[in-house]
Amino acid sequence: MWKFNAKTHYIAELRGLEEGENVRLAGWVQRKSELGGIVFIRMRDATGSVQVVLREGNLSEQELTAARGAGIEASIIVEGSLRRDPRAPGGLEVIASKFILVGDSKDFPIKPGVGEEFLLDNRHLHIRTTRMRNALMIRMEVMRATEEWFVNNGFVRVEAPTFVGAAVEGGATLFEVPYFGKKAYLTQSSQFYLEAAIFSFENVYTIQPSFRAEKSRTRRHLTEFWHAEAEMAWADLNGMMDVVESLVKYIVEKVVERASDKLEALGRRMEAIEGRFPRITYDEALELAKRKGAEIEWGEDFGTEVERLISLEFDLPVFVTHYPKKAKAFYHKQDPKRPEVVLCADLLAPEGIGEIVGGGQRIESENELISRIVEEGLNPEDYKWYLDLRRYGSVPHSGFGLGIERTIRWIAGLPHIRDAIPFPRTPVRLYP
Ligand code: 4AD
Repeated sequence: MWKFNAKTHYIAELRGLEEGENVRLAGWVQRKSELGGIVFIRMRDATGSVQVVLREGNLSEQELTAARGAGIEASIIVEGSLRRDPRAPGGLEVIASKFILVGDSKDFPIKPGVGEEFLLDNRHLHIRTTRMRNALMIRMEVMRATEEWFVNNGFVRVEAPTFVGAAVEGGATLFEVPYFGKKAYLTQSSQFYLEAAIFSFENVYTIQPSFRAEKSRTRRHLTEFWHAEAEMAWADLNGMMDVVESLVKYIVEKVVERASDKLEALGRRMEAIEGRFPRITYDEALELAKRKGAEIEWGEDFGTEVERLISLEFDLPVFVTHYPKKAKAFYHKQDPKRPEVVLCADLLAPEGIGEIVGGGQRIESENELISRIVEEGLNPEDYKWYLDLRRYGSVPHSGFGLGIERTIRWIAGLPHIRDAIPFPRTPVRLYP
């Protein structure tokens, strides 16, 4: 790990040292207590925490006074020698011979028993807690594994713009922003730009934010979320599902391998996934949901509750394919055998989590695409460049979008999507 000269070691490195070795640590006060004139500080850094013992004789009067006065989350530098003591938490402690109070902290507001809204208002401080740090480290491993899978499989990364001129996923969830006298929107998906890039690189991906003006305040919606999207030339619906299955299995495998301690600390039991993901049709899923008591008609998209009922029926993530055309965006290719449904698939994560991936096969004919745009009441002029892709060497192709935060929520077992991102954005949250 990269190190600056404020410290000789990160706390996680102490385990590998000999008794009596001298160390210099830099970090923050997590807890503090005093017993018989001896001050005990539980000190944390980015890698872990350790008990520091500060006693008269080893330290000056000023140093002891500074240690006694240091508040929770004060930043400190400690020098001392390492001692193995089975009574100390973690079996290690540092007997301090020098103490520096770098930045004091008075009355740190994050305390046990404060409410959810208070924690969200103080998110900039809340992310220091062990629980949030574990969740965010799992986030990093999900991001890393996602990127790695694409690179390992020869996908080329292509970034798409955030300001766009037209909707991808329908007008209802568009964020409008003024743009030099014109209207622009925040992108809902990078899909169309990735579709343009398959003609250069065939298999492409990106990981970047998407925006949805979703007014619904749920445990699985953000207004700004990170979106891992891929587009593949020559892939049909089944080829697309094979990619998603391999990617999702890889992400779970790597998170379990690299962050098992974080999962355990969050109380989450998660194992690498064996076996194929079941693939069922919308019609089969609808029957299943109805049997479980859902009131839903053929043609409607599945809401949170229906997806929950379906995903509870499976131990593995399950693909639901062939949704009614009217429940999905205009770019989906119709099933030639059954034109009222489209060649699409959503992946529902188990345990009631619901959709984490949405994708499918795209319309490759220009005329078919124009009729679907018109049918949806949209203006083909707004999609001129997108239509061009069907005019110059069009190919069958498919793609998908995986919601990074929904995936983290599932893997880490988080009750709410907002804990899967450091600074969540929802309809009621723009601060901090
Ligand atoms: O199913 P969606 O809307 O599909 C698309 O945007 C396609 N254009 C993607 C593509 O084919 N390239 O969104 C894809 C995924 C969802 O499965 C979900 O995981 C996530 O994006 N997602 C959200 N995550 C958090 N908050 C929201 N408001 C989300 N909306 C979608």
